[in-house]
Amino acid sequence: MKALALTVSLLVFLYCVCATPLVTEKDEFGFKTWMSEHNRRYSVDEYYQRLQIFTENKRRVDQHNAGNHKFRMGLNQFADMTFAEFKKKYLLTEPQNCSATKGNHVSSNGPYPDSIDWRKKGNYVTHVKNQGSCGSCWTFSTTGCLESVTAIATGKLLLLAEQQLVDCAGAFNNHGCNGGLPSQAFEYIKYSKGIMTEDDYPYTARDGPCKYNPQHAAAFVRDVVNITLYDEMGMVDAVARFNPVSFAYEVTNDFMFYTGGVYSSTKCHNTTDKVNHAVLAVGYAEENDTPYWIVKNSWGTSWGIDGYFYIERGKNMCGLAACSSYPVV
Ligand SMILES: *[C@@H]1O[C@H](CO)[C@@H](O)[C@H](O)[C@H]1NC(C)=O
Ligand SMILES: *[C@@H]1O[C@H](CO)[C@@H](O)[C@H](O)[C@H]1NC(C)=O
Ligand SMILES: *[C@@H]1O[C@H](CO)[C@@H](O)[C@H](O)[C@H]1NC(C)=O
Repeated sequence: MKALALTVSLLVFLYCVCATPLVTEKDEFGFKTWMSEHNRRYSVDEYYQRLQIFTENKRRVDQHNAGNHKFRMGLNQFADMTFAEFKKKYLLTEPQNCSATKGNHVSSNGPYPDSIDWRKKGNYVTHVKNQGSCGSCWTFSTTGCLESVTAIATGKLLLLAEQQLVDCAGAFNNHGCNGGLPSQAFEYIKYSKGIMTEDDYPYTARDGPCKYNPQHAAAFVRDVVNITLYDEMGMVDAVARFNPVSFAYEVTNDFMFYTGGVYSSTKCHNTTDKVNHAVLAVGYAEENDTPYWIVKNSWGTSWGIDGYFYIERGKNMCGLAACSSYPVV
């Protein structure tokens, strides 16, 4: 019995030694610099655990950047987290019902401009927000899209209440901090006859009781338009002719450290059952023969390119054409 216990603990010990990277003095210095840049403090135990994770992430980022890729990675605010931790805190944790096999967006035959960027066409896109530790990306994708569509229609750029969607949109297959979908959130706003402003219904990054007051509704949805499953040209059509478009896709562990360039990956899947994050396409362009989407994220302005990212266009990359939609106001 004793011998067995000894063998087991020896095996565990060996496993830990082999599975964790060797931390050099330079790594630790880098970690301390990162800690002070990001205002992190840990208990002694946690310090060593986070140092290990940081070093593993650093190896992966360095290896990626040494290779031939269209995008770069960096040690951003997520550098002390494993992907499993990241997923649990920030992403949609269960498969969503995005399967508009027959959407109601009607495409024209083009032609389309080579590039479009709604941020440059007028005062149509609000600042990049931060969802915090809550799987509420779908609410930010929804408000971002409705803010833009409303501004294009009325000339007024409002900040709309994610928290109302977190707290109140449950009857439409949404689950607050545990996930949801923009198309289902637009349906909720249409049904509930409006959405309040962020000032009137502040964001808390936590599930709470519904406090929606229709008398304070500031923006409205007349209809919801879904783009047909995997019809990425339908997304181009909608963004070129009408407004920014909400979409969902699969985030994998290389995406969390994106710092620039055109993201493309062989790690992610292109099917509806894997999408775990919702964002907002505010335009598209092309660089060195690689077409891409210009996308607004909700992880704050210090992530990516001032809070934005580019992702390859035309290949249903990471399932980005699996569930896209926009409201009509
Ligand atoms: C998908 O739809 C079904 C049927 O409406 C529902 O029971 C289920 O909870 C939905 N899944 C999610 C993740 O919302
Ligand atoms: C659009 O998607 C929503 C949510 O999945 C769904 O409730 C609605 O019926 C769809 N609309 C159309 C016209 O298919
Ligand atoms: C998904 O990727 C596979 C392999 O590249 C491809 O054959 C398939 O057409 C793609 N499906 C969709 C819906 O994009």
